[in-house]
Formats: sequence, structure tokens, C-alpha cells
Amino acid sequence: MDKESFDPLVNNSIDNTPEAQELRTSILELVGRYFDSVNRGRRFEAGKTYLPAAQKVLDASDIQYLVSASLDSWLTTGRFNDEFERCLAETVGAKHARTVNSGSSANLLAVSCLTSPALMDQRLRKGDEVITVAAGFPTTVNPIVQNGLVPAFVDVELPSYNIDTRALEEAITERTRAVMVAHTLGNPFDITQVKRICKRHCLWLIEDCCDALGSCFQGQPVGSCGDIGTFSFYPAHHITMGEGGAVSTSNDQLAILLESFRDWGRDCRCPPGRENVCGNRFGHRFANLPDGYDHKYVYSHLGYNLKITDMQAAIGLSQIGKLPGFVKRRRENFSRMWDALSDLEGDLILPLATPDSEPSWFGFPITIEDERGNGAKRHALIEHLGRKRVGTRLLFAGNMIKQPCMEGVEHRVHGNLVNTDRIMNDTFWIGVHPGLSDEMVDYMAQALKEFFR
Ligand SMILES: Cc1ncc(COP(=O)(O)O)c(C=O)c1O
Repeated sequence: MDKESFDPLVNNSIDNTPEAQELRTSILELVGRYFDSVNRGRRFEAGKTYLPAAQKVLDASDIQYLVSASLDSWLTTGRFNDEFERCLAETVGAKHARTVNSGSSANLLAVSCLTSPALMDQRLRKGDEVITVAAGFPTTVNPIVQNGLVPAFVDVELPSYNIDTRALEEAITERTRAVMVAHTLGNPFDITQVKRICKRHCLWLIEDCCDALGSCFQGQPVGSCGDIGTFSFYPAHHITMGEGGAVSTSNDQLAILLESFRDWGRDCRCPPGRENVCGNRFGHRFANLPDGYDHKYVYSHLGYNLKITDMQAAIGLSQIGKLPGFVKRRRENFSRMWDALSDLEGDLILPLATPDSEPSWFGFPITIEDERGNGAKRHALIEHLGRKRVGTRLLFAGNMIKQPCMEGVEHRVHGNLVNTDRIMNDTFWIGVHPGLSDEMVDYMAQALKEFFR
């Protein structure tokens, strides 16, 4: 479907009478009025209004798209999803984008597809190692374990919060087959170094971009730099669909494998609701199946069903049009916060963008200078901010290895995880999302400074 022919607010194939078209238009107009009416006039009151670390930013058009998709009554993945996948691929500069029902599913899909026998001797096999970091979100690591692979953890650097690329290269053994790391809180890792290492050692690279949609490295959007990129559209993220995620790749073979694993593991590539698109539905032969077995029910992988509904895709489609403005605002809020806190250097470690990168910041990470290293000062600061109605988040799992879920799980640690442990004890982050005005950012910075006075 080309861009010109897609109209989110009309469905030419079902609004086939003037009455249907008129009704859809009236419904959507009412939806817009309703949204604006219930969201009007929320004023910021310092110390009273809660300022969350992450928050969705919706407008009337998002809900109009949602309702328009529901009026289509198609429900499963459909025209909105096709258009969203096209827009996302264009946005991240990848040849293909495929939606899934969460960022965690995107990570699961990315790792699972690399186990496909179709990749021959390049496939990941049980016991192979995947290098990653422990300072991050659990579902960057879990799919490695779930696929019978072994996570090998290396330390991160401060103040970028990203993988230490020297440790990465040192950690490689003959069992290492892939690298899977996130661009932490939107700050791209050193893609030049990581790609050089992956190329030299023939390793797959999965970029977890769940917190980094819109970030660039040397002008190139993240998600198009490695073999596969993954994204989350949970409400806290750069754009939302409620629940949702996506994978991106410019590798045609991986795109087919991703789709197969996402769609029950099936061999057939017909879109939902259509069959025999290839014209050869009953003409295939597979070793242990009867000749001509219905291709719609042939499974080449142990897959899942991770698809989204068209209602989710519709909100995503409305949101992605606003991404440039969202990213701009995130960058402005980040700079404003950084300038306001710069005189606290000594008490705090302020975040720094990786050289050559333009982060689309997910949050503003702060590490407290506290020689006790037991998290007590961070705890006191977070409580202080809570009393001031400023929301905070930890850097997710802190040190994943210390999480209860890792008990008994085979893994390897290369060297030490000194910075990872420091992050577990002394790091937290606050918001820079587009829902924050200058006044709110100034108030948050002021609240932080009060603690150190
Ligand atoms: C780096 C990273 N990867 C993966 C995910 C998982 O995304 P989702 O919550 O959509 O499953 C998150 C969630 O915030 C994340 O921060």
C-alpha cells in the first residue's frame, strides 16, 4: 500500500455507502471533541503535580486512529499495521520492520530467529555464548537463556552507562557467537567499535533499541546498525501503542525468519485473512509430510504468535508521525536538566552522550558519589524527590546477575562488574519525556539541588 492511498480515517472497502462514510466522520469528530474535553486545563502545580520519570503523550488524533481501526472491525494485524511497519522501517533506515506485541517479544524473536536451521553454520546452537551486560533490562538477557544459550556478562562504562568495548573484545572465546546489548536510556553504545569487533569475530549483533527510538550514531538511526534492532512501544517509551514492539533488519533472510517465528513458526507467508497468495498452496513437498500438504499448516520453526492488533498499530501510526517533535523535546529537556545540575558535579556523575552520537534520551541517569557504596544516600535522595512529587526509576535490574531469577542459570562473567555494581547501588534516573515543560524541568532540578544544600 503506498503512502498516498492510505487514509487512516476512511476505509474505502467497507465505508461503501455515503451513510457509512458520514457516520465514521461524525464518530471520529466526536471522539476528538471528547478527548480534548477530558484533557483540557491540567495546570502544573509545583510540589503537588506528580512528575513521572516516564509518561505517554497522547492527543486526539491517536484516539481517532484507534477508533477508526476498531470501526474497520478487522481486529487482527491489517492495513494500519502494514502502514506502521512501512513508516517504522523508513524511520530507522532499515529495509524491513515487523511489529510484535512487546519489546520483550521483539528481543525473544531476535534471538530465536538466529537459531533457525536455515542459517546453516551461522545459526546459534545450544551452549553458544552471547555477550551482553548486566546493567539493564532483564528481557535483553532472558531470551538468550530461554534459547539455551549462555549469557556472558561484561562491565559497562560511566558516565555513558554502555558496554565497555575493551572488555567486550577481551571476553570473546571460541564459544561466542553473538552480541546483544541495549543503547542504555537512549544513549547509543559505541557502534563503530562494537561493529568492528563483531565483524572481526563473525558475531551477530542485536541492538536493543527499546529505549532509543530516534537516537543516531554518526547520523545513522539506531536499529539499522546491527543485524537486528528491537523496539518497545509500551506507554513509557518514545512512542506508544499501549503494548507493542517491533524488530528491524535489512537482511532479507532474517526478515523472513523473524516473520516465521512471530507467526506460529509457519513456513507460509500469507498475511492474516488471506490464503494461497503464492498460488502454490498445495504444491509443496516436505520430507515427512504427505505430498502437497497445505502450506498454510507447515511449520518450519518452533515459533510463537507475537502479532499485534490493528488497533495497536493505529495508535503507533498516529504516534510515529509525532516522533521528530518528541525527540526534539527529549533533547531539549535533557540539555536543560544537564545545565541546571552542572554545578553539582562532585556530588553527582552526570550522563554524557557517546562521542559521535545524538541520543534520543529516554531518561536522565544520575549516579551519586557515595563512598559507602550501599545505596543509602540514593535511597535518601529518592525519598526526598518522592516527597517533592518527582518520580524516579532505577536503571532497571541494576546488576542482573544478582536478581533472584538468575539463581542456577548458567552464565559467565568476564573480569569484574565494578561499574555495574555501582549502578546497582548508586544510580537512578528522572524524566525528560515530552510531557515535561521547561517549568517542570526547572522544578525537578531545583528539588534535586535542595537535597545537597
Ligand atoms: C532496554 C529494554 N529492553 C526491553 C524492554 C522490554 O520492553 P517491553 O516492556 O515492551 O516488553 C525494555 C522495557 O522497558 C527495555 O528498557
